[in-house]
Amino acid sequence: MATKQKQERLIIEESARDEVVSQLQGCLVNLIDLSLQAKQAHWNLLGRMFHPFHKQLDEIVDAARTGSDDVAERIATLGVAADGRAETVSEQSSLDSFPEGRISVEKAVTLTADRLQSTIQRLRQAIQATDDADPVSQDLLIGITSELEKHLWMVQSQEQE
Ligand SMILES: [Fe+2]
Repeated sequence: MATKQKQERLIIEESARDEVVSQLQGCLVNLIDLSLQAKQAHWNLLGRMFHPFHKQLDEIVDAARTGSDDVAERIATLGVAADGRAETVSEQSSLDSFPEGRISVEKAVTLTADRLQSTIQRLRQAIQATDDADPVSQDLLIGITSELEKHLWMVQSQEQE
């Protein structure tokens, strides 16, 4: 049985809060999935330009982990339990799964760019949806999106024709 909080002082009205939390929760699972997939790529790269992309993937992992922690803590701040369990991430993430085994740098660049894009799309959807309901959550999401969009630029700039 879930433990209830003894006392709750609402920051935003309950009906608006539920929608905001649902948006934040959708971003949370994608950010966790992105951090796991970027690590999977980091460990299994093969080929030319291994080292710079290996390092770049860890920067993406850091951004996704920091973003997921901030989003989860925003959910908690709004008085709801964040759900970052492995089974929840597996069920709810909108990212395609990462292929098993070794992967060429070239292929990993493309797959990482695709997953950054999916995460950004989910974040941008949440930014739209939180516009009126909670500008503070929206501001947090904008900051995370801005950082991931910069990573997307740097990853996809490595794609070859
Ligand atoms: Fe490492």
